Formats: sequence, structure tokens, C-alpha cells
Amino acid sequence: MKQSLSSPPTFLEAKNRRQKVRSAGMNPDYWYAVEYDHAIKPGQVVEVKFWNTSIALYRGQDGKLRAVENRCAHRQLKLSLGEVDGCNIRCTYHGWQYDDEGKLVDMPHDSFGNRFPACKVGTYPVKVRYGLIWIFPGDATLADVRQIPEIPELEGKNRWACVPLDFTWRAHHSMIIDNVSDFSHAYLHRQYRPFVDAKLTKFEEIGDHVTLSYDTQVGTGKISGLFVDRTRVNTNSMDLCYEYPYQWSNTGDKIKHWCFVLPIDERTTRTFFLFYFNALKIPFTNIKIPQWLMKLVLKIANPLLIRPLLSQDGIAVEAEQEGYENHFEAPIIELNPAVHLFQQLTIRKWEEHLNKKQHKQPAMKSIV
Ligand code: FES
Ligand SMILES: [Fe+2]
Repeated sequence: MKQSLSSPPTFLEAKNRRQKVRSAGMNPDYWYAVEYDHAIKPGQVVEVKFWNTSIALYRGQDGKLRAVENRCAHRQLKLSLGEVDGCNIRCTYHGWQYDDEGKLVDMPHDSFGNRFPACKVGTYPVKVRYGLIWIFPGDATLADVRQIPEIPELEGKNRWACVPLDFTWRAHHSMIIDNVSDFSHAYLHRQYRPFVDAKLTKFEEIGDHVTLSYDTQVGTGKISGLFVDRTRVNTNSMDLCYEYPYQWSNTGDKIKHWCFVLPIDERTTRTFFLFYFNALKIPFTNIKIPQWLMKLVLKIANPLLIRPLLSQDGIAVEAEQEGYENHFEAPIIELNPAVHLFQQLTIRKWEEHLNKKQHKQPAMKSIV
């Protein structure tokens, strides 16, 4: 196909499902994982982004996290360039200081006879769960209605050993959602063999969930195969779900993962994976790895097996993004029917958001 000179269409210009899904955003009225809890120390501020919206995320000296719109009301500098002052954030330029409700509370320079400016920047609800920091970038009145997914295996005294990983890939979030649930790409992982001979046995869309199942051989790689305890786990099938805007998998109720995407912009996505296990065995034996040892085993397995495996997906989706930008008008050849459902769901949720936004917009005022 000839390389196109123009750029891919926007959501409103898109002419087919692929162009729509590759330009869709994610509905902001959900909780999104944005950073690890341990990555932000008291007194530290970082910039995080949700679909081109920049947010200053900081931890006050009291240990509490806060998220504010990342701009100073004065001259619009990013507040993430500034400093945490107690529980407030101070802009680096003229030193204006905002409290955790975004209200300007200090202006350390002459006011030239003016009144203290009554200005405010926006704030976002923040929570911490599963070692991740979550932000609610949308309509804050929905923050209590919408929940962070419940993962009972990752909480409490008997919680399973977990491998957290994250990647920032130069790819649209929909490519990552397609990738993690579409097992037709076993060829890419021929070295690690996380799933082979996958046959889609079920796929359906119920509300905002697409559930699917494969009959497949799970974890048959040379090294991973040694650890998978086939006497305790059914490794012949896997259930998966695109539980908008999140994704998970479950192998025999013993090997599970969640995938949380953070759509940064049209071509950048940070993805947080939580893999957790309850049935791995000591190689060449039938002895289950005890829970206390599991943490160490996973620490070793992560850089050897899990990270390299997912890095292959990263290379593929980044190449897919590049391919799409060059050939967005190429004919669509998509064989896996579950992928059609993922894409439809992403498009529908984005349309829902755009429609809501349109209804909320105040009537345009004439500027002439
Ligand atoms: S730009 Fe922030 S204080 Fe002036
Ligand atoms: Fe993969």
C-alpha cells in the first residue's frame, strides 16, 4: 500500500470502525491508575497525563496525595514545576500558592494596590489501592459511584504474591486492549509460549463488559512450564474480560492478571499490569511454592520471563501504531470476532462521553 501523506482522521472524521477506535479517547468518568504509590514521596510533585490533560500529583508533608489541574492561574505555568509547601503547592515563577482545594492562598509579592485575586484551579479525586495511585479525571460527582475494581486476592493477610509491571508504549490504548485479549498473536511469543493453539470458545458483550474464553495451553514455555502446577490448575483454558476501561484474565482461578491502561494521548499509553499467582510449583517436583517464597520467585521470574514477554507486545503495538499512521486507509482485515466487540465497546463509551459533554456545554456566546 502506498504511504499516505496525510495524518489519520480524528474521531469525528473517521470513516470506519478502525479509524474510530484508533482515535477514540477513554471515558474519563472512571478511576485510572496513574502512578505507583511508592513513587511519590512526601514533598514531591509529578506531572501525570490523562488524554492530554495534565495533572499535578503531589504528596503533602502529611503523607496525603493530592491532584490539581496542572496550571497556575496567574500565567499558566505547570504547577508540577513548582514545590510542595506543607500540604499546598507553590508555583515556581511568582510563588503563588494553592491549597488542596485548588484555592489561591498566598501571593508572596506586592499586589500593587489590587485586591487578593480570588482564583482557583481544578482538583481531582485521588485514591490508593493495590500499590497504585488512582485518579478520577472526569465528573467528580461520579467518583463515589464508580468503583476501582475489587481484587480480593490482593488484599488482606493471605493475599497472593503479585508482580506489578508497567510500560509506556507509543501506541493507542485500543491497540493494547486488542493485544492483551486476542490470542491469535501466539506467534509473536513463540519463544515464551504463554498460550498456544488458542481456540475462541465464547465471546459476548454484556453491558460494558466483553467476556471471552479460549481453549488453549497456558504457560508451556521451556522455563515457565517448569513452574506451572498442572496438578492444581486447569491450564487448558483461560477466561478474559474487557471490563471497561480495564482488562483481566483468569486461568483456573489460580493465575490471574489485571491490566489498567492510562491513555496519555492519541499515541501514548501507560499500562499497569498486576499479575498474581496462587499455584506455582518448585521445578521438577510437585511441591507447591509456599506463599512466603512466592514473592522471591516472582521477583526473579519478572525480569526473566514476564517483562521480556510483555516487551514483545510493546514492540508489536508500537509498530502497529506506526503502521496505522502510515496506512490508516488500508482495508480492514480483522479475523477475531472478539476484537470487533472490544472496538465497538471503546467507541460506544467514547461516544457516550462526547454526547454527555455536548449536553453540558453552555450555549456559545457571541464574541463580536
Ligand atoms: S505564573 Fe505562577 S505565580 Fe506567576
Ligand atoms: Fe502478547
